[in-house]
Amino acid sequence: MNIFTPIKINGMVVKNRFVRSATQESLATPEGFASERLTNVLVELAKNELGMIITGHAFVSPEGRAGNLQQSAASFDAVNSFRETVDQIHKYGGKVVLQLAHAGGYAKDADNAVGPSSFIARDGRKPCREMTKSEIAHAVSCFANAARRAEECGFDGVQLHAAHGYLLSEFLSPYYNKRQDEYNGDADNRARFLFETLEAVRAAVSPDFPVMVKINAENFIDDGCFAALPGIMAGMEKRGLDAVELSGALPVSPPQFMTIRPGDIKPNAPAYYEEQAKILKTQLHIPVIVVGGIRYREQAERMISENVCDMVSLCRPLIREPELIARWQEDPTRAACISCNRCLRPLITGRDYCCPIKNQLH
Ligand SMILES: Cc1cc2nc3c(=O)[nH]c(=O)nc-3n(C[C@H](O)[C@H](O)[C@H](O)COP(=O)(O)O)c2cc1C
Repeated sequence: MNIFTPIKINGMVVKNRFVRSATQESLATPEGFASERLTNVLVELAKNELGMIITGHAFVSPEGRAGNLQQSAASFDAVNSFRETVDQIHKYGGKVVLQLAHAGGYAKDADNAVGPSSFIARDGRKPCREMTKSEIAHAVSCFANAARRAEECGFDGVQLHAAHGYLLSEFLSPYYNKRQDEYNGDADNRARFLFETLEAVRAAVSPDFPVMVKINAENFIDDGCFAALPGIMAGMEKRGLDAVELSGALPVSPPQFMTIRPGDIKPNAPAYYEEQAKILKTQLHIPVIVVGGIRYREQAERMISENVCDMVSLCRPLIREPELIARWQEDPTRAACISCNRCLRPLITGRDYCCPIKNQLH
């Protein structure tokens, strides 16, 4: 077994162990539909041997929308606008997974933003509103409908975005979740919304259609995130989860631990959540994917051969070098990405998705 051997995730066979982690390109149309440029970005990855491409997070309902030019999973037409993109990715032997998200208290429309409890996402913004139980049930059905659309429109799987402080992860975190009802109290109760979502999604799609989750290994702000994870993951396995991608951090975590951690990676450095993956891997029966800080082919090889994880996932290195995985088949030179985080700037300023260093933009 090595980084270029296939792996099966439920009914899907992925040709190698490389994943493009979900990356919001902000290249959809204002309505959240596919654009030519977005299609080109995703297909370019498939042409270059990426085994499994996870789309940028797609909002499952209008109130869960995170930003302008974000892609939508909130209507059949929006998801179906990616059919040509999906077909082209398949032509090159790649698989494509739709990441489903609700931005919770961080949603773009602050006036209608909801969360597990009320909190202020940013200075100067009004607090989000605590969700009622019927709003929770509605959000669950939005995830399920979005997953059904993904399967109908040819996607190979879905990934529930339960990381980074968006709605599903807000419920999991005692920092955001101060509810007095059965959606809080202990880790199992905080996972209730995620469990309900997974059950509804699983029921909405075919039994062999892969359903995955991206979840935080650490929040770096509230206690017990990793301690609760084996229990949450066991609950998700029981409910039919097919794979987990381990990530970490919330928007309120200390800057050195942010999801998109600044600072170049030295050879032989562990990936951000490698220690946690190693432990979790011994407890789970489904494939474990690790994202964050992977910049060397040797690092990826080591993680797979030492059974730290089953797949490795990359984001920033593929913004800089969409051809990286094809290149690594021949040439093990490290990824050019130095984690300077300037790739975030185009998203914030509305400029095009790119690596500003490669494109010499200042
Ligand atoms: C421009 C940009 C957009 C991102 N968009 C998403 C997203 O839509 N969904 C998600 O789960 N993570 C998103 N992330 C986080 C990445 O998937 C990944 O977890 C993080 O960048 C760490 O991996 P890396 O060290 O390989 O970059 C984004 C990161 C960047 C830099």
